Amino acid sequence: MADTLEGRVVAALAGIRNPRLDNDLLSAGMIRDLAVTEQGGVSFTFLLAADDPATLVRQARAAVQAVDGVQRDAIKISVTNPSAAAPPPQAANVPAGQPNLGRILAISSGKGGVGKSTVSVNVAVALAQDGARVGLMDADIYGPNVPRMFGVFEKPPVVGGRIQPLVAHGVKLMSLGFLVERDAPAIWRGPIIMKIVTQFLRDVDWGDLDYFIVDLPPGTGDAQLSLVQATQVAGAVIVTTPQEVAVGDALRGARMFERVGVPVVGVVENMSAFVDPETGRRFELFSSGGGQRLAEEIGVPLLGSVPLQARLAEQADAGRPVLVASPESPAAASLREVAAELRRLTAGRSAALPILRN
Ligand SMILES: Nc1ncnc2c1ncn2[C@@H]1O[C@H](COP(=O)(O)OP(=O)(O)OP(=O)(O)O)[C@@H](O)[C@H]1O
Ligand SMILES: [Mg+2]
Repeated sequence: MADTLEGRVVAALAGIRNPRLDNDLLSAGMIRDLAVTEQGGVSFTFLLAADDPATLVRQARAAVQAVDGVQRDAIKISVTNPSAAAPPPQAANVPAGQPNLGRILAISSGKGGVGKSTVSVNVAVALAQDGARVGLMDADIYGPNVPRMFGVFEKPPVVGGRIQPLVAHGVKLMSLGFLVERDAPAIWRGPIIMKIVTQFLRDVDWGDLDYFIVDLPPGTGDAQLSLVQATQVAGAVIVTTPQEVAVGDALRGARMFERVGVPVVGVVENMSAFVDPETGRRFELFSSGGGQRLAEEIGVPLLGSVPLQARLAEQADAGRPVLVASPESPAAASLREVAAELRRLTAGRSAALPILRN
């Protein structure tokens, strides 16, 4: 971040103190809607209270002008009174909010292969079918599989310098899988992951959304941390399989989110019993109850148990999520229920707040 133009501009603004608040301009929430273009253009809104010294605006302009790469005559500052701008400044150490993304939900798991992508994709489709505006970001940079699961492989177009998400089954999509060759990202490490996650959040033209679903890689690595540092996540969902009796990994993941201030909204148990579509009879193929146990351990609700569904993998690989391919199936019904629960549980929570904070 610091070695980008935007990073240098942010650092310059963070270097100016407001003596009245004994805080810097950024931490005091006085800068909003900061936009930095590749050509060196900078624009932002300056929230100047009646009793703030007006010289702060001049100081901010001078500091931005001095940043290497900024065009002197392409700096646009709109000064407004904070009482005219909602919402009020928030506590320190909260990352930048992106109100246009709506409620950001991170789909996570301790182990790989338990169904994060299946849950992400189908919850996104369910919310979209219900009339919500939904975006889905594939943050699984090591094995991005959202493109295959939606059957879209084109390169996203770039319009006016912004990457346009692709749209499938009513959901706006972005994945590293659209942008790079297969297998290339396997060697990528922390700083690059941070950059990709931040760019997907900021440089993709998501428009106005109600829900923003993030399909994470398993575990508690760089992608998870980057996400919570780069934006305000409304809630994390932990996916597990029933036989994961040792809930250790999933629990560690949940604790990580709680530590960084992201509430865990619930647990989804996937690949639980097989339900015979003909008779509706349940077959418990594995030891069961792992989801419930994990939910109890974390102290959150079990959002749903998604049964094993014949041909789900095959259809998913052909770009047809189970919600679309077999909408009447028990798995689809259960995934719709998970989406409805998430909708209900996050309804009272405010969407990300529009304050820039780096
Ligand atoms: N309920 C289910 N019934 C049958 N197959 C399922 C079910 N859920 C997931 N699958 C299949 O299991 C495999 C793993 O699921 P998925 O890719 O969603 O897991 P993941 O947690 O995202 O994995 P990874 O950690 O590799 O990203 C996929 O082939 C998927 O189609
Ligand atoms: Mg996955």
